[in-house]
Amino acid sequence: MPLTRRAFTILATGSIALTVLGEQGFAGPMDNPANRPSLAKEPFNIGPKSKYKEAGLYQDFKKDKGVWVVSDGKQLTVLSATCTHIGATTNWNDGKKQFQCERQGPKHGSTFDLDGTNTAGKATRPLERCSLKLVKGANGAEEVEVDPTTRFRKDKDEWSNPASSLPLG
Ligand code: FES
Repeated sequence: MPLTRRAFTILATGSIALTVLGEQGFAGPMDNPANRPSLAKEPFNIGPKSKYKEAGLYQDFKKDKGVWVVSDGKQLTVLSATCTHIGATTNWNDGKKQFQCERQGPKHGSTFDLDGTNTAGKATRPLERCSLKLVKGANGAEEVEVDPTTRFRKDKDEWSNPASSLPLG
């Protein structure tokens, strides 16, 4: 069937649009900044440290505070969920056991280990750790306070700072 001039124009326009999208990285619904969980701008509590004795990823604070809570059973860390490439958010892929940047495609596509270390894609450094300390909670019991305004970068050797993790013992 011969291609009409109109059909040709539609195909050519679509092809150009796909090429541009591919260059910029594919965008999903979370790519709209209004939908993106952003890192909290004030300290907040995440409960007693005993809550995190079991090793694993705690996702409770991703949506509202923009952080991942990670326990290895001995120490607690809280990672900013913001990709260190150009600031999109990360999501947890349970099958692959890794954080993945929401922005995919050849110009993005970063992945990070559970401890935040970058493993692929355009990010050149790990996710940042938030500052942690123990405080008295509303009921007088000790709770973990996360300060997302103070963060530690592994590439600057800041993960050795005692405030970048909390012993669970
Ligand atoms: S913003 Fe995450 S890889 Fe580009």
